[in-house]
Amino acid sequence: MLTVWEAIKVRRSIRKFAPDDVPEEMTQQMLEAARLAPSGANYQPWRFLVVRDKEERKKLRHICLEQRFIEEAPVVIICFGDLERYSPQARKKRRQEFIDFGVIETLSGRFTDPDILKSMESLPRPTREQLLAPMIANTYIAIDHLVLMATSLGLGTCWVGGFDAAAINRLFGLADNLLPLVVIPVGYPAGDIPPPRPRLKLEEIVLKPQVHRTAE
Ligand SMILES: Cc1cc2nc3c(=O)[nH]c(=O)nc-3n(C[C@H](O)[C@H](O)[C@H](O)COP(=O)(O)O)c2cc1C
Repeated sequence: MLTVWEAIKVRRSIRKFAPDDVPEEMTQQMLEAARLAPSGANYQPWRFLVVRDKEERKKLRHICLEQRFIEEAPVVIICFGDLERYSPQARKKRRQEFIDFGVIETLSGRFTDPDILKSMESLPRPTREQLLAPMIANTYIAIDHLVLMATSLGLGTCWVGGFDAAAINRLFGLADNLLPLVVIPVGYPAGDIPPPRPRLKLEEIVLKPQVHRTAE
């Protein structure tokens, strides 16, 4: 198994898959890596649907803008964000968990106020639109765990964001609190591993302050 750093370096978007099946234990290990991801206030909004059936993969290919490798991959994992995780009851449970696990005691600033939890409860319920950003951001962390675990097991994956989300929910009879965010085909890469795609240089992504900083 590769180390995290090795997996980060060798991962590529794989769009050609061998017909060889992916052992169930590997799929479970990928899901386990996703399960352990961090999330804001530990909301864990991610949900996964594992698709192995050939006919379903064929239908998914149509839904995913005819991207052929979706049908070719022996396993396709559909990654959802669950808006229900942010319901008032769920928020209350998360706050209680903060207390039970002693997190509150380690916080500082306004979080040290003993009434903070009560006052947070009285905040207005966020709208569906307001919840989208945290739900997507948190679910993407879990998806990256899943993808890097697949890489470290020698499997190929590709993040796929091009699909008709409503059609996925219709195909699997899922309620609209579950938002399909990314589709991940998984399998053994076929043919040559693609060369690395270009990345920005460090100097291009590390910002320099634009104000003159004076010594105090
Ligand atoms: C959110 C997201 C959505 C993507 N959607 C697609 C897609 O629909 N089809 C596809 O072939 N690749 C898709 N990609 C893969 C990117 O094109 C790829 O990650 C990028 O070009 C860098 O190449 P690399 O993954 O080989 O390093 C997606 C990647 C991300 C992160």
